[in-house]
Amino acid sequence: MKSTILLTGGTGNLGRHVTPLLLNANFKVRVLSRSSRESTDGVDYVTGDLLKGEGVEPAVDGADIILHLAGGPKGDDESTRNLVRAASRAGVEHLVYISVIGADRVPLAWLRSKLGAERAVAESGVPWTTLRAAQFHGLILTMVEKMAKLPVVPAPGGLRFQPVDPGEVAARLVELTLDKPAGLVPDLAGPKVYEMGDLIRGYLQARGMRRLILPVRIPGKAGRAYRAGENLSLDGATVGQRTWEDFLADSLR
Ligand SMILES: NC(=O)c1ccc[n+]([C@@H]2O[C@H](COP(=O)([O-])OP(=O)(O)OC[C@H]3O[C@@H](n4cnc5c(N)ncnc54)[C@H](OP(=O)(O)O)[C@@H]3O)[C@@H](O)[C@H]2O)c1
Repeated sequence: MKSTILLTGGTGNLGRHVTPLLLNANFKVRVLSRSSRESTDGVDYVTGDLLKGEGVEPAVDGADIILHLAGGPKGDDESTRNLVRAASRAGVEHLVYISVIGADRVPLAWLRSKLGAERAVAESGVPWTTLRAAQFHGLILTMVEKMAKLPVVPAPGGLRFQPVDPGEVAARLVELTLDKPAGLVPDLAGPKVYEMGDLIRGYLQARGMRRLILPVRIPGKAGRAYRAGENLSLDGATVGQRTWEDFLADSLR
């Protein structure tokens, strides 16, 4: 019999890459979303809100595995606590969670909530696996596009990223889902480390745009953490293949 998997965040950027891989792996896929959707193409949609704690128990009911990708700018710790409470009661066999590299080191509120979510998973009593990934190409593109609208583009000095392809993150998550619960596994980062200024220059070049780039300094503790590379994973990470340049060449054609 097919195993049932509850996929939270299945309607998001990462989730759209994950869903077809889970179907290929022969799972019965149930996607939780805050808006109601027609069940189609072998995917069963259920409505619920993890942050409000609404519809969580019925979503979890009968699921063998949970792949938890749902996330937002705030409240991921609270949402995850609501999810794992239901998962623990329902006797879920494996919960796989996606977090962010630096969740334990960069003092920003949304990363603290990712760390809170990681802890909720680890302390849930449900067998678990957590993968921390670097920023997806699409997120960096959104940031750079906004910045490039300005006549002079501010480039925070010392801010570096290892952008990763969400398709590669999706493939790794499905591999982890099919495997035994493994706790916190090695991070997944992109193949190269870029200064923010280089990411901006790559974008401007691909777009054929010219802008003045002005180095700026991020103040405070978060700025110090970023300049120290606390958002990077330089040792022991699994490294993806697809570069920022590959992504730009495909998406800005
Ligand atoms: N973007 C990055 O660079 C990056 C890097 C590393 C890790 N991550 C993590 O990867 C995950 C997915 O990121 P993404 O970029 O794919 O996100 P996204 O495109 O913004 O999608 C967010 C998803 O979360 C769901 N969601 C949000 N709040 C919810 C709630 N209260 N209850 C139920 N579902 C809720 C949304 O579903 P509905 O709108 O249908 O309700 C949507 O499917 C997140 O946990 C994020 O922290 C992201």
